[in-house]
Amino acid sequence: MTYMPTLTGEVITPRVDKRQVAESFSKAAGTYDSAATLQQIVAARVRLGLPDLDEGASILDMGCGTGFETRALVQRFPTADVAGLDISEGMLAYAQNQPDLKNCQWLSGDIEELPFHENRFDLVFSSLAVQWCDCFSEVLEQVKRVLKPGGRFVFSTLAAGSLHELQQAWLSVDSSPHVNQYESHTLQKQRVNASGLKVDTFCQQTETLYYPSVLHLLREMKALGANTVINSQGKGLSGRSVLKTLTKGYESYKTEKGFPASYQVVYGVLCKPDQISQSE
Ligand SMILES: C[S@@+](CC[C@H](N)C(=O)[O-])C[C@H]1O[C@@H](n2cnc3c(N)ncnc32)[C@H](O)[C@@H]1O
Repeated sequence: MTYMPTLTGEVITPRVDKRQVAESFSKAAGTYDSAATLQQIVAARVRLGLPDLDEGASILDMGCGTGFETRALVQRFPTADVAGLDISEGMLAYAQNQPDLKNCQWLSGDIEELPFHENRFDLVFSSLAVQWCDCFSEVLEQVKRVLKPGGRFVFSTLAAGSLHELQQAWLSVDSSPHVNQYESHTLQKQRVNASGLKVDTFCQQTETLYYPSVLHLLREMKALGANTVINSQGKGLSGRSVLKTLTKGYESYKTEKGFPASYQVVYGVLCKPDQISQSE
């Protein structure tokens, strides 16, 4: 078993197969934008927390994916120096090929090992990427390191209870993990409070999408590249009989709008204090 050295001193047993996560997102780079309904709704809400920035400010889009939200940052802050970082080479290649994003800097890297020196950015933006990391405390520590004093971390992630309908429905098939598990919002709050970052906003909101069938939901997750199940030991199930049983298990949640998929989305605006005390 390998243990990651962390800035927080916390011993983390890696639970996320990051190579698998990167591969899955790379495969989905060409289909991601057209399937990203939830991601675009969430990112629009994250943008409400953006601060005003001085001319020439430096911005990092962490887990930038296809660059869809990086574009929104470039449009909002046209004089800024914008960098996009992602662990998926396929996503980065897609973003890099966008003619209107050619002035951005693109980097392959891991949010939990940010390849930047300290005090580098005025703003770190991230939408729906942090939940793919091993340890939220480590993410916060990395962000605090690369933010300039007074800089802001404006982001979204997921909390426990996301896709609970799908998780319950899978129990009618078997007891293996088929849906990713996330930390509770309460635990996330404790991590934020311990991080030394000042809290402007840190709240949880349910976002629910509806699908005409369970197959539509599963296909969308695949088109997004969001179908990697952390800690699943590679067990995949498919086939008509599984889908039939899964759909039967999902029926009790169905409404006149269709099969619901609800996400517990966490929105945060955190600020690096101008003076960080020695103990932090
Ligand atoms: C759901 S997509 C979100 C993309 C974009 N932020 C958006 O809102 O459309 C998640 C992205 O995070 C990236 N990602 C996942 N784990 C990562 C990590 N540890 N470091 C950097 N990027 C990561 C994935 O490759 C993927 O592009």
